[in-house]
Amino acid sequence: MTHSKRPKHIAIIMDGNGRWAKAQSEPRLYGHRAGAKVVREITTHAAKSGIAYLTLYAFSHENWKRPTEEVEGLMKLLWEYLKQEKATLLKNRIQLSSIGNAQRLPLTVRTLLASVQKATQGLNGMRLTLALSYGGQDEITRAMQKIGQKIAAGHIQPEDINPQMIEQNLDTHDMPPPDLIIRTSGEQRLSNFLPWQSAYSEFYFTDVPWPAFTVDEFEKAIATYNLRDRRYGQASASHIQLVQGQ
Ligand code: IPE
Ligand code: IPE
Ligand code: MG
Repeated sequence: MTHSKRPKHIAIIMDGNGRWAKAQSEPRLYGHRAGAKVVREITTHAAKSGIAYLTLYAFSHENWKRPTEEVEGLMKLLWEYLKQEKATLLKNRIQLSSIGNAQRLPLTVRTLLASVQKATQGLNGMRLTLALSYGGQDEITRAMQKIGQKIAAGHIQPEDINPQMIEQNLDTHDMPPPDLIIRTSGEQRLSNFLPWQSAYSEFYFTDVPWPAFTVDEFEKAIATYNLRDRRYGQASASHIQLVQGQ
């Protein structure tokens, strides 16, 4: 199997589980369960096809406001996923990590998450990051609090704050920013996902709901990404060549 040039870091906003279930007259949790299967498929494919970092938005800071039954169902599903996936992660040498305010997760989930993270730590395959109880504004707020404490303790001066220092205090401090952000199910917004880190990310939106997302769709997103000209505020190389007559 040959693959197009791989973005180093892909992040996915896995949206549309509820609408997908509703379309089939099923409860929302049925959609979440189907979505978990797709997580498995896409993660394994990404790892085997040379993606270095895959970050999945699984549960947002704002999702806590959903009905208790749905939140509890999602936490149970997360626990089951972690329990079942450990072997597959180890087999594919996938390193698991998480971003977000893990303190808010139920103790059973937190404990299991920590144990799977420990078991997969240092593996040399893809790094899979689950965004759990994650909100970008919450993440930046926590980073500011950490920096504020260092100022209060006299370790640094306010003028020492720079983008690198802010990055070092974010949950994503040890990973590169996402090259490509995919959002399924039609909405074209970030919903508080990686607002700092997405400053120069490319976006790919599809109407396909997450439970119906496939490896082909994933590859289509990458193919589209490969047609983009990432300029980072500079003039494009092809334009410079044209002007200089090269
Ligand atoms: C995404 O699907 C999963 C989570 C946010 C946990 P949704 O549950 O948001 O599904 P829709 O957007 O209501 O269809
Ligand atoms: C974003 O989806 C969160 C996840 C995919 C986990 P939401 O469904 O919560 O976002 P909104 O409410 O449509 O903005
Ligand atoms: Mg949604």
